[in-house]
Amino acid sequence: MEILDKMNEAQADLAQVIRLALAEQTEDVRLFVARLVRKYRNTEPELAEQMDLYLRTKMPRTSAPMRKAAQPAALEHALPVDDESRLSLLKVYKDAPDREQPLLSADLEDVLSQLIQERRQTERLASMGLNPTRSAIFVGPPGVGKTLTARWLAAQLGVPLCVLDLTAVMSSLLGRSGNNLRAALDFAKRNPCVLLLDEIDAIAKRRSDESDVGELKRLVTVIMQEVDEWPATGLLLAATNHPELIDPALWRRFDLVIDFKLPEMPAVKAAIKRFLGQDYALFGRWIDILSLAFNGESFSTIERDIQRFRRAVALGTAADADLIEDFTKSRVLVLDRQPRIDLAVMLAKQTRLSQHTISDITGVSRDTIRKYTSEQPPVAKKTSKRKSDA
Ligand SMILES: Nc1ncnc2c1ncn2[C@@H]1O[C@H](COP(=O)(O)OP(=O)(O)OP(=O)(O)O)[C@@H](O)[C@H]1O
Ligand SMILES: [Mg+2]
Repeated sequence: MEILDKMNEAQADLAQVIRLALAEQTEDVRLFVARLVRKYRNTEPELAEQMDLYLRTKMPRTSAPMRKAAQPAALEHALPVDDESRLSLLKVYKDAPDREQPLLSADLEDVLSQLIQERRQTERLASMGLNPTRSAIFVGPPGVGKTLTARWLAAQLGVPLCVLDLTAVMSSLLGRSGNNLRAALDFAKRNPCVLLLDEIDAIAKRRSDESDVGELKRLVTVIMQEVDEWPATGLLLAATNHPELIDPALWRRFDLVIDFKLPEMPAVKAAIKRFLGQDYALFGRWIDILSLAFNGESFSTIERDIQRFRRAVALGTAADADLIEDFTKSRVLVLDRQPRIDLAVMLAKQTRLSQHTISDITGVSRDTIRKYTSEQPPVAKKTSKRKSDA
């Protein structure tokens, strides 16, 4: 048992060194190895000595000890080099203010537009003794625009968006992730920006892992303090698709909870239109059918599938109608029965496809299609035996 534990720990150490080395976090590698030297000095003296020797040997390229190696020029989107900011943990997006607005429900649009107005009129608020919203948490299923909206919001406010990758924070040096997090947050506080703690549930998810409990508690504490103390000049955002995993104490510290939902039919339609781009001219007349086929899906799924469809169109061997048919067929596979029937009925009404073909595409029997199309209106009339209008 003990050997096993030891093995796992040694393996974990090895993995950590590899991770840091591949990320070219030279200084972190050195610090970590120095810790390993101390850790293994008693149990594995030879190994410790060897590692110590490597540490002391001046390596030709990264000779200056205690200095962070120059960042490779390729990492253009990383922040300017700043030893204190733990750059690898923060990603920065600088988008122009005319960045296209995400598709948002009317409710969502209202909430976000107030958020923006608050920022644009801080003086007016201040004159009445009010602060703008300092923090908000975005909640919703995957692919509905939480991260995208954070980017758009920052662009609207004319500041960069800094995204803190919490998964990276947690896999950073054990015992130091609290420090790393603090350094990254300090950096975001010092520079005008919107900070997004993306996938904030990542911390909670890791809780089951016994060995990390102390460390994770520390992280949650750091975040709670930061949310409490976040200056009104900055905007702190968080996003999650697992609200149930978030510590209630952390949860209630956010000024605002913003719900992102799967798109309703009109939004699905708008999304298809947007994602079809110039191909909308060709396929606009199929929009109702496509909308039905995508009912209940996230924006990102719609985008992905429409992109695939457009590639097929671009390669263009088949006729448009055949492409749509094939495409619809592939979508139908994931639909429930009633949506499939709706789709079949729509195809029957809006296209010249034979009932046979429609049945083939949708898997709905011809009888059912007939029942819902040709016979329904008369039946509806007959059965609604209206009492004569008085
Ligand atoms: N509301 C939207 N309007 C337009 N496009 C969207 C919208 N939501 C998602 N998309 C498309 O889907 C992609 C993924 O969206 P995004 O990363 O914002 O999802 P998310 O809600 O953050 O999901 P996750 O919870 O998985 O992080 C976007 O880059 C965009 O192309
Ligand atoms: Mg996201």
